[in-house]
Amino acid sequence: METVQLNLKKGKDRSYDILIGSRIMDKIPLDLKRNNLGNRYLIITDSNLEGTHGKRLLSLMRKEVLSVSILSFKAGEKSKNLKVYGKLIEKLHELKLDRKSTIIALGGGVVGDISGFVAATYMRGINYIQVPTSLLATVDSSIGGKVAVDLSTGKNIVGAFYQPRKVYIDVSLLKGLPRKEILNGLSEAIKHALIMDKKLFNFIKKNLDNVLHIDEKTLIELVRRNCNIKANIVESDETESGLRKILNYGHTIGHALETLTGYSRYSHGEAIAIGMVVEGLIANKIGILSDEELRQQNGLIRQAGLPTKLPNINTNRFVDELKKDKKVVDGRTEFVLLREIGKAEYGVHASTEIIKKSIDQSK
Ligand code: GLY
Repeated sequence: METVQLNLKKGKDRSYDILIGSRIMDKIPLDLKRNNLGNRYLIITDSNLEGTHGKRLLSLMRKEVLSVSILSFKAGEKSKNLKVYGKLIEKLHELKLDRKSTIIALGGGVVGDISGFVAATYMRGINYIQVPTSLLATVDSSIGGKVAVDLSTGKNIVGAFYQPRKVYIDVSLLKGLPRKEILNGLSEAIKHALIMDKKLFNFIKKNLDNVLHIDEKTLIELVRRNCNIKANIVESDETESGLRKILNYGHTIGHALETLTGYSRYSHGEAIAIGMVVEGLIANKIGILSDEELRQQNGLIRQAGLPTKLPNINTNRFVDELKKDKKVVDGRTEFVLLREIGKAEYGVHASTEIIKKSIDQSK
C-alpha cells in the first residue's frame, strides 16, 4: 500500500493521508477504528453503487462492530443540487448524527462533492472520508477539499474548501469501468502531467495501454503520482489564491464548451481535453509554447483516444461564453497556459484576436 501525505498545518492540524492500493476497502473498518475517526458512520453513495460497493462496505464495517448507516441518491450530475443536499442534511438529523459522527463519501466526483458539502455544513462541520470509485475522483476530485453543489445557473456555485480526514483509494474498485469513464479521469491525469510533471507525461505515454486496460499495478503508480502533484499544489495554496489556479488548465475553454453543448455532448474529461488543445494553441500563438511541445501535448491526448477538435460552434458565441467564466478579471479572461510540458503559468492574458484564431483553427 502506498501513502501520500497532504500536510496542512495552518491553525489546527488538518493534514491527512491518502492511502492507495488494491483491495484497500477491506482495510477501511479496522483503520477507522484504530484511528478513532468517528463514533458513528454514515456512508453516502449513489443509486448505482449502493447495492454493490455500498453493500460491501456496510457489511465490512458491521463485521468490525462499527455503528454505520447508508444513504443514497439518484446517480448523476443532475443530483448535485440544493434539493438533494437538503434531503441528505435532514436525513442526517433524523438519524441523530452528532458532531462526532463521520461521513464516508463512496463514489465518483458527484458523491464526493455533495457528501463533502454536507459534512462541511452539518452542525458547522463534521468529519468526512473519501472513498473514490471513478478514475477522475481518484486522481483529482477526492483530494484537496473542494466540495460543492450546482445551481441551475452554474456549476459548483454553492460550496466550500473543506478537507477530508482521510482518502482511501482502492484501484480494484475501478475494474469494469467503461472506457469513457477511464478517459474522463485520464484527461485530468494528463493535465496534471502537462502542468507539473514531464516524467508523469512520459509515464502515461509509455503505459497508456495498461491504463486503458485498468491494470492495477499501473493504476496504483498513476494515482500515486497524481496524488503527489495534487497534494503539493494544495499544500502550497489550499484556497486557490495563486498556484492552485494551474489546475484549471484546459478548463476555461472546456467549461465554455460544456455550457454551450448543454453538458450532454462531452464528458468533463473530453471537454477539458479539447480545452487543452485550444489553450495549447493560444500559448503557441502568443509565443510561449513551441510547436514541438504543442505537437507532443496533442499527440498524447489523441493517442489516449480523447477528442482534440472543437465542434462547429460560432466563434463569437464561444468568446461571449468565455467572458462569463469565473476567472474573468476586469473583463479579461485569464488563462492557464503552458510554457513547456511540465511547466504552466496562471493569470495569462491573450488578445481576442488570438483567442478567436485559436478557436477557428481547432474546429
Ligand atoms: N479540481 C481542481 C482543484 O481541485 O483545484
